[in-house]
Amino acid sequence: MPTLFKLLERNREWAAQVAQDDPDFFKILSEQQHPKYLWIGCSDSRVPANQITGLMPGEIFVHRNIANVVVHTDLNLLSVLEYAVDILKVEHIIVCGHYGCGGVRAAAQDDHIGIIDNWLRHIQDIQTLHAHELEPLDKEAQIDRLCELNVVGQANNLKRTAILREAWKRGQSIEIHSWIYSLADGRLKPLQDIIKG
Ligand code: CO
Repeated sequence: MPTLFKLLERNREWAAQVAQDDPDFFKILSEQQHPKYLWIGCSDSRVPANQITGLMPGEIFVHRNIANVVVHTDLNLLSVLEYAVDILKVEHIIVCGHYGCGGVRAAAQDDHIGIIDNWLRHIQDIQTLHAHELEPLDKEAQIDRLCELNVVGQANNLKRTAILREAWKRGQSIEIHSWIYSLADGRLKPLQDIIKG
């Protein structure tokens, strides 16, 4: 309980500080949200979307799952995507992976953990697809490169969803960006941009 008490105490301090800096901040946000960005990232606690991009509440719509995977049958992700594209009309979708991703490592090593094995199969498909590029690398370099290939592969899955294809067909301007985050220095690195519409 002392730990949770600290969280609530910090929340009170944070809310007071934000309100002091901008007295209308919570009033305006409580009425509407107009984020320009959708973030699809890893659930890893070390990669918090708002903090690493310096964005405030209201500025980025967020979906996170283990190893930032985009699966065409994932109703959760598709619902977030549809709302972000059709209702919020975000202008940029950022698929962000990170080096040292436990999900990517487990997939690369073919670890058997449980239900998550099925989820990580999608990353093993990417590993198989790029086997010729990955095999000559040493083990850690393989995992780093698979982290990068996974981000780009998931962004390519996103591009093929009916939601984005329809949005581009009607002329809506949305770009998909693949980024990777380094836990070692806190820096984001762009890998690929998909610009259509
Ligand atoms: Co991860």
